[in-house]
Amino acid sequence: MSSFRALRVHDAGDKKTRCEAEDLTTDQLNEGDVVIDVHWSSVNYKDALAVSGKGRIMRRLPCVPGIDLSGVVAESDDPTLRPGQKVLVTGCNIGEALDGGYAQRARLPAEAVIPLPDGLDLREAMMLGTAGFTAALAVVRMQDNRQAPDLGPVLVNGATGGVGSVAIQILSGLGYEVAAVTGKADAAERLRALGATEVLGPEAVRTGGKPLESARWGGAVDNLGGDALADMTRSVRPFGNIASIGLAAGVELKTTVMPFILRGVSLLGIHSVETPRPLREQVWQHLAGEWKPRALGDIVTRTIGLDEVPAYCDELVAGTITGRALVKLRDDAAL
Ligand SMILES: NC(=O)c1ccc[n+]([C@@H]2O[C@H](COP(=O)([O-])OP(=O)(O)OC[C@H]3O[C@@H](n4cnc5c(N)ncnc54)[C@H](OP(=O)(O)O)[C@@H]3O)[C@@H](O)[C@H]2O)c1
Repeated sequence: MSSFRALRVHDAGDKKTRCEAEDLTTDQLNEGDVVIDVHWSSVNYKDALAVSGKGRIMRRLPCVPGIDLSGVVAESDDPTLRPGQKVLVTGCNIGEALDGGYAQRARLPAEAVIPLPDGLDLREAMMLGTAGFTAALAVVRMQDNRQAPDLGPVLVNGATGGVGSVAIQILSGLGYEVAAVTGKADAAERLRALGATEVLGPEAVRTGGKPLESARWGGAVDNLGGDALADMTRSVRPFGNIASIGLAAGVELKTTVMPFILRGVSLLGIHSVETPRPLREQVWQHLAGEWKPRALGDIVTRTIGLDEVPAYCDELVAGTITGRALVKLRDDAAL
């Protein structure tokens, strides 16, 4: 392939960026020991911020956005990755400091590249993408810290989002009761179909301001931050875990040490981008095997081409999207 289609984010001056569709050649990408023909990507909130310019995500400009990709190895200097092999990449600074998935080619360090596990095809890997990986990472961390169904229902907020939707499916498949919290009044039926046993509005999980309130939840998965996370610390049962994933509603956390020292509650930080490779491989093995969401197709609400990504990102930032979008990078994209 001499040249290929890509989106690239450029410096537009005055601390602004602009995203353009263009033709690139491989030597315009960052250095790396593996060249990948990209077939699929996905759109995460972080991608929407990078493409729309609403958030300062890029740490190098110009840079191809897209924090997820799956495809086929075209060239490799690494003995563990051979041409023709199907692979996936999530996080690892692609779409931020390294050129990412919104291009028909990527050139990356082998450390970032995971062989596609048996049980997933290239499209399914991107239905999950960083959102699915992060949800599964949270469940791994919680269970490693003794979360179990008999501790009680797990609260999942931002429930209609990518991370929330996958977290609900994984937890319900593992036998947990799941209480889904959503701000969308019409989402209850969809969330129950994913496995939620209970669907609640944000007001139903607000607590009073005391350091410890009634202990309702066995554990919690937080995509929002701010008051929602603070309320979780007050209302999770003794020895339950809270996985802190997102900041959709705020970055502050106003709570006390009481839940930690009087209830043994654990606050687990979930950082998907630089997860060490052995743990990344373990999480993908779970997602390809016994944790593979049975309603994977229900998470993805749209499949779009590269040229449609900027408009979709504007919608995502505006908060009008339910579910996830797949990005199909070529007409003959393989599975
Ligand atoms: N730590 C990590 O490594 C990591 C990895 C991936 C994502 N994240 C973060 O995790 C969060 C969720 O990611 P995602 O991919 O699932 O995002 P998403 O698809 O955009 O979903 C976020 C959900 O949060 C709710 N929400 C959005 N804005 C809100 C607001 N202002 N106030 C209250 N609720 C709001 C909405 O759910 P409802 O309408 O159902 O309430 C929305 O669907 C994001 O903050 C993302 O940046 C972190």
